[in-house]
This record gives sequence, structure tokens and C-alpha cells, in this order.
Amino acid sequence: MSKTVLVSGGAGFIGSHVTVELSQAGYDVIIADNMSNCDETNYKGVCAILGKQLPFIKMDFCDSAATEKLFSENKIDAVIHFAAFKAVGESVAEPLMYYKNNLVSFLNILQASREHGTNVLFSSSATVYGEPDETPVTEQSPRKPATSPYGNTKQMCEDFLRDCVAAYGMHGIALRYFNPIGAHPSALIGELPRGVPNNLVPFITQTAIGKRECLYIFGNDYPTPDGTCLRDYIDIVDLAKAHVCAVSRMIEGRMEEPYEIFNIGTGRPVSVLELVNAFEKVNGLKLNYRFAPRREGDVTAVWADPSLAERKLGWKATRTVEQTLAAAWAWEKHLAGK
Ligand code: WQD
Repeated sequence: MSKTVLVSGGAGFIGSHVTVELSQAGYDVIIADNMSNCDETNYKGVCAILGKQLPFIKMDFCDSAATEKLFSENKIDAVIHFAAFKAVGESVAEPLMYYKNNLVSFLNILQASREHGTNVLFSSSATVYGEPDETPVTEQSPRKPATSPYGNTKQMCEDFLRDCVAAYGMHGIALRYFNPIGAHPSALIGELPRGVPNNLVPFITQTAIGKRECLYIFGNDYPTPDGTCLRDYIDIVDLAKAHVCAVSRMIEGRMEEPYEIFNIGTGRPVSVLELVNAFEKVNGLKLNYRFAPRREGDVTAVWADPSLAERKLGWKATRTVEQTLAAAWAWEKHLAGK
């Protein structure tokens, strides 16, 4: 009998790609989203890629009664929680909004998962490592004090999951994503930032298409080979496949510990300038960019040691940064109707 996975925030950037991979792997998927930070584009894209309508529930996981109702009306084998705010700067300006939304929704999911014996996968972030003392970071590397309420919610939710697993006999996995970028090769789903993008790749593609005049590279005086920051950019489809591995590990009872953490990255550091150059080269265009002062709160360099995920989940990033940047550009052109 097929197993059912609930994807909270399933209409968003990561949630939509995960939904596609889960469905293609044979899982029944229920998408739930309050659409507070997206429109129907990705949901429609998911259905077009899969050639079928997936169940969609418009709801807010901050509503505990609605959350409990969803879990009692469906036999949910695992839940993947993406429904959260994610803009670092906004979280500094609006901490209460971030704490209320990101923490309450996850507490409700944990409560319902406890009642119904549901496995929980939490979408965490490399942001929990802060400015690491050593790179690459392993899952054992220390978590640093969060530098924003957003980062703090990621750390706190990891702790909520760890403590609930320990107390209630639940099973949970936290995946720590590095920098997810790109889009589905169909160009039917992708990242849809509202307003001015905070993240690098949407800013690059919007500059290339003419929506933004110029890309500002924040800092070229970092102690790195070319002076720009180093990150681990992970293809969104590769990242989505890691969720299928983690969900099946939980559902099939293959976990070695009831709470496990995995880094999801490539293990390859790429500088901002390298990424910009790769984008220009693979897509055959010139980008208008300029160096600007450092952005407050940015760490110099962080990349993953992804070997634990390879050993335990049987997962490994497969796509090159060039393939990923070509997909990101195809998606931007699709959005522009080109
Ligand atoms: C990458 C690099 C910038 C924009 C953040 C969150 C993290 C995660 C992903 C999200 C940095 C530089 C960027 C621009 C630039 N979670 N940059 N010009 O900061 O590594 O991680 O997003 O939901 O938790 O902190 O990603 O894409 O913003 O920046 O030069 O216009 O690109 O300085 O070096 P970041 P990013």
C-alpha cells in the first residue's frame, strides 16, 4: 500500500520540487499551504509535471484545530515541514512575526505527529552553523548563536524536534540545506521571490532578464581566493531527492537513531564571482554587475561535508553548477513568457 506524505508549504520553492520527487517515487502527497508567500504558479506547475491533480489544502499550521483535523482525517505516514517565513532581514525587523509563525506552526505539527504516530522531517538550514571555525562543516560542527530571528527559529525547531523525539518515542530527521538554487528542468516550477530578491541567484536571473538594472556583489575584500564569499550551492532537484531518501528511511524503519541530522550540500565551495561567471558562460550572456560593500550578517565561507548523507541516506548531489544555472535561467525566461 502506498504511503502518504504531508508537505506543509508545498506550494513554495522547495516544497513544490519535493512534492514532484515524492510523487514520482510513488508516494501519495498532500500539499498544504496558506499561500501567504506564493501564488498558484508552482502548484499548477507540479500538477502539469505529474499530469495529475494533487490534493491541495489551503490552511495555516498556526491553527492547531485545523492541523489536528488534517491529521485525524488522513492517514499521514510522514510530514515534511516547509511552511515558514524565510527572509533574514525581515526577521530582524519583525521578530514576533517570525517567532509566532515559524515556531507555532511547527509546535502544532509536532503535537499532531505525536498523537498520530507520524514521522517528522524538518527543513533546517546551514544558517545554524553561523561563521564556522572550520570548513567544510560536518553535522558535529558546533551550532553558533543565531544572528537573526530567522536563524534562531531554525535552531529552536531543531531542538523542539530533538526533545519531542526523546520524550515521546517519535522519529524525526532534520536536513540542513546549504544554498538551494535552480529550478526544475521542465521550467514549470521554480523560485518566485516577491519584490526585490534577497538571494543571489534570483537577483542574477532578474538582472539578466532586465527586471533589475544591476547585480551588486556584496564585498570583494573577504579573505577568500577572489575576495568574494564562498557558499555551497545545491541544485533544487538534487535537494528534493534527499527528502525522498530521508522519508523512506523513516517510513521503512531504517533509522539508526530516532533523531538524525544530515547536511544537504555538494561539498564544493563556489564564490559569488565564480557563480556569476558560470552563469554568464553557460547561458552565453553578460551580466551587469558591480562590487558593493559587504552585506551585514554575511559569513565569509561555509560549505558542507555531505559524506554522512551519502553513507546513510544513499544520497549525493549529481548536478553541476552549470546545469543548475541553466535551469534557473530557463525558469526566469519561462516566467517572462520568453
Ligand atoms: C549568497 C551570497 C551574498 C545577493 C541565505 C540564508 C540561509 C538560506 C539561504 C533561506 C552571499 C551574495 C547575494 C546579492 C550578493 N535560507 N549576494 N548580491 O546569505 O548564503 O543564505 O539564504 O531561506 O539561511 O541566510 O544566501 O543567496 O542571500 O547570498 O553578492 O544581491 O551571495 O553576500 O555571499 P545566504 P544568499
